[in-house]
Amino acid sequence: MQLDGKVTVITGAASGIGRAIAEVFAREGARVVAGDVNASRMAEVGSALATEGRPIRTVVGDIGARADAEALVQTALDEHGRVDILVNNAGIMDYMAGVGEVTDEVWQHVMRVNVDGPMYTSRLAARAMLAQGHGVIVNVASIAALTGGAAGAAYTTSKHALLGLTRSTAWMYAMRGIRCNAICPGATRTNIAESMPADRLDPTGAARAGLFATLIPAWLESTDIAALALFLAGDAARFINGAVITADGGWMAL
Ligand code: NAI
Repeated sequence: MQLDGKVTVITGAASGIGRAIAEVFAREGARVVAGDVNASRMAEVGSALATEGRPIRTVVGDIGARADAEALVQTALDEHGRVDILVNNAGIMDYMAGVGEVTDEVWQHVMRVNVDGPMYTSRLAARAMLAQGHGVIVNVASIAALTGGAAGAAYTTSKHALLGLTRSTAWMYAMRGIRCNAICPGATRTNIAESMPADRLDPTGAARAGLFATLIPAWLESTDIAALALFLAGDAARFINGAVITADGGWMAL
């Protein structure tokens, strides 16, 4: 068991990559506190793992709302007295609009979920981790954190910002026991398209992103990303800090 007894908070754990991380971490012995805004899917993940004999704690809330984000981390602190690992995974797409077309509403919503949320959870977790003297944070960014071609202005900017939060956290606390790294997944089979309904897509932006998408070398499964998160969360990665690691089948090798 690679994560035996490790208290782990995971955001966006009801679907896709977050669900796969919750499953693999629970199977590796972690005490998982899993959060998501989707109550029914979160309950389904919780009952599936309970049936497997690996119960997890589920918490429903909106990661972009400070009170909900803090309540998620606080649940781990209240019930276990510490948080060893935080995985900031929850995220939503934009509608592929460029900066000339993006609306205030979309910009602010994407920033709330993709940037404010990880800041809120990281802030509270970092305070606990500093007091404990150890902790690991894994941020699920995107190849959109490394290129302008993969999405619209809001999503691209939000994921670039998440790398900034990753590196700042790694640098600030490198000598105080906290490691913080980012994963940049490529195209991964999940439910993320639900946050990008076809009738809301910006046609020009979608065409530009579509051009970039023709270069996708491989479609990943959520378990491929979970395997990397498991490695980064574990002791084998003890000197990996501030790293930005792609898992994209070579898409960003272009
Ligand atoms: P998904 O849509 O299957 O799962 C995302 C989960 O986050 C959902 O359960 C959703 O309910 C939850 N969520 C959304 N807004 C939330 C909020 N305000 N508060 C709490 N939970 C919320 O999507 P996927 O693909 O598993 O996404 C996970 C992460 O991976 C995201 O950060 C995404 O940006 C990133 N990613 C995904 C890629 C892909 O191709 N699927 C590629 C690169 C990055």
